[in-house]
Amino acid sequence: MIHSIPQDTIQRIKNVANIVDVVSEHVVLKKAGRNYLGLCPFHAEKTPSFTVSAEKQIFYCFGCHTGGNVFSFLMQREGVAFPEAVRALAGKYGIEVPTEHLSPAQKERLSENEQLYRVNEEAMRFFQRTLIEPQSGQRAMSYLVGRGMTRKIIDGFQLGFAPERWDALCRKLQEKKVPNELMVKAGLVIPRKDHNGFYDRFRDRVIFPIMNLSQQVIGFGGRVMGADLPKYLNSPETPIYNKSRCLYGIHKANRPARASGRVYVVEGYFDVLAMHLYGFENAVATLGTALTPDHVQMLKGMVGAAGQVYLVYDSDQAGIKAAQRSVRVFEEGFLDARILVLPKGHDPDTYLREHGPDDFLKWADKAQGMISFIISTAINTHGLSLEGKVKVVAEVQESLAAVHDSVARALYIQQLAERLQIDENAILEKVRQATGRSTPHVAKATDFRERLEVNDGRRLEQQIVAMMLCYPQMIPEVLGRNLVDYFEDDQLRNIARMLGQRGATQQASAADMVSMIEDPRYRGLMAQLALEECHWDRQGCERFLSQFEAHHRRRMREDLQRQIEAAEKNKDTELLSTLLRKKQQQAGRGLINS
Ligand code: UTP
Ligand code: MN
Repeated sequence: MIHSIPQDTIQRIKNVANIVDVVSEHVVLKKAGRNYLGLCPFHAEKTPSFTVSAEKQIFYCFGCHTGGNVFSFLMQREGVAFPEAVRALAGKYGIEVPTEHLSPAQKERLSENEQLYRVNEEAMRFFQRTLIEPQSGQRAMSYLVGRGMTRKIIDGFQLGFAPERWDALCRKLQEKKVPNELMVKAGLVIPRKDHNGFYDRFRDRVIFPIMNLSQQVIGFGGRVMGADLPKYLNSPETPIYNKSRCLYGIHKANRPARASGRVYVVEGYFDVLAMHLYGFENAVATLGTALTPDHVQMLKGMVGAAGQVYLVYDSDQAGIKAAQRSVRVFEEGFLDARILVLPKGHDPDTYLREHGPDDFLKWADKAQGMISFIISTAINTHGLSLEGKVKVVAEVQESLAAVHDSVARALYIQQLAERLQIDENAILEKVRQATGRSTPHVAKATDFRERLEVNDGRRLEQQIVAMMLCYPQMIPEVLGRNLVDYFEDDQLRNIARMLGQRGATQQASAADMVSMIEDPRYRGLMAQLALEECHWDRQGCERFLSQFEAHHRRRMREDLQRQIEAAEKNKDTELLSTLLRKKQQQAGRGLINS
């Protein structure tokens, strides 16, 4: 791992960072015995197999075999490199990561994402300052106040204003010595067509900084204050901003959503602000896109598999389109959602301001599950005439086909048959046809785990590696007896050799040893093994190693005997004499008497 962060800084972070706290920001964890258990954020699952050990400071998923320490968790979860994971944790625990000692070349190597976060942060501050300055920000401030926003909301969400100039931000960033390419890469400025300089992307707009869970600014949205179009302008896709992987307001909503087990998904920036204003802090918005599988995983991380997700839409039409599109995504993410459609012409922002939070909750109580919603809106739309019924079935068959749980699906079909007064089998047939057309993606555990459970020899090898992780003092013993040479499993043999070679010290923790391995497949396996409880004492370890050795000696002897018999039968005298010599050698090394 090539990076420029001093080892002692990394060590200080390791000393204070608690993997349970860090993972808890992404996954709902429950205590289960010595470990914590939750739904894996790295694959879709219904029953928790994601395990976190506070004691060993590692995580491992028994479903998809991802595992590692606190750094590897963040790296995979946020898709960042090691130095950024370190910096994120340093920020969280208030530990300074020195950069002054870096040479210009090293500074340049500081990951690009890191620089993009910094530029965005700079830009956000500039927009914020411009908004609160009496002169420059006056119009924008009155716009926000006119829309009911308080100073607390404005500050809390770090809203800002991009002035009505072509290069206000660009100049500001140049003053701060930000390279032009970086501003372009961050999507903040756009090169002029004639290649003569740059201009600001956001001009004369109210600015909404978009943040990730770690409170880093990943992008911006900007709203015009008048009737110009487009109404909103958003950051383009950048290395750190991908709208299908972010939810506006998640940094504020995460804790309240976790606490209440409920999250509201609304459509717009102002809806999130209004929800906060009226006491619903567990609200996030998608940024002008349909919900993606990543969004669903994020929502599940906030509220858990049994959590309540309310998709709030401003009309039946928007609601039904979204519901139809999202059924499969939610089904595949093993998460349920309800559809909350507000009265005609209202979005959460206008509704709350007109009717207040109590009425809003009444609407929420009426929210239906996705499938029920799709069925009832289809019936409302098409009616119960003969043609209507045909259209209703046609409209809902895909959604019903997406339901994984066969009992739930059967119940929906039964319910629909009753409401339409038609034969259940007719609907069933349609749903079957729809199932055939679609290719539902079902998360499959790799065959790796099955192998792991059937192969006994491998089990013994696993126990030896687990022992090496649990008791590093035993590593010299394992290597000294050449036991690793007997290993039949390539992965385990490699891991055992690595543990030996990398000079795992006697004080190295399991998490340290796991983090020495860069290949994620190996790391997952290591984490799994490190999670195993070893209850042996030194004597027990020795006994186990001796048994393993004896087992292999016996097997080698038996193998050789079989080969000798075969050679005798084939009258292959040359081979026979080689084999007999081998047998003598074994005996000489004491291999035969065990
Ligand atoms: P809406 O058109 O419903 O706007 O778009 P809104 O959020 O109610 O905005 P206000 O209340 O008029 O200010 C919903 C969301 O879709 C995205 C934005 O994220 C917006 O909040 N959107 C909309 C765009 O990205 N660009 C647009 O031009 C319009
Ligand atoms: Mn609105």
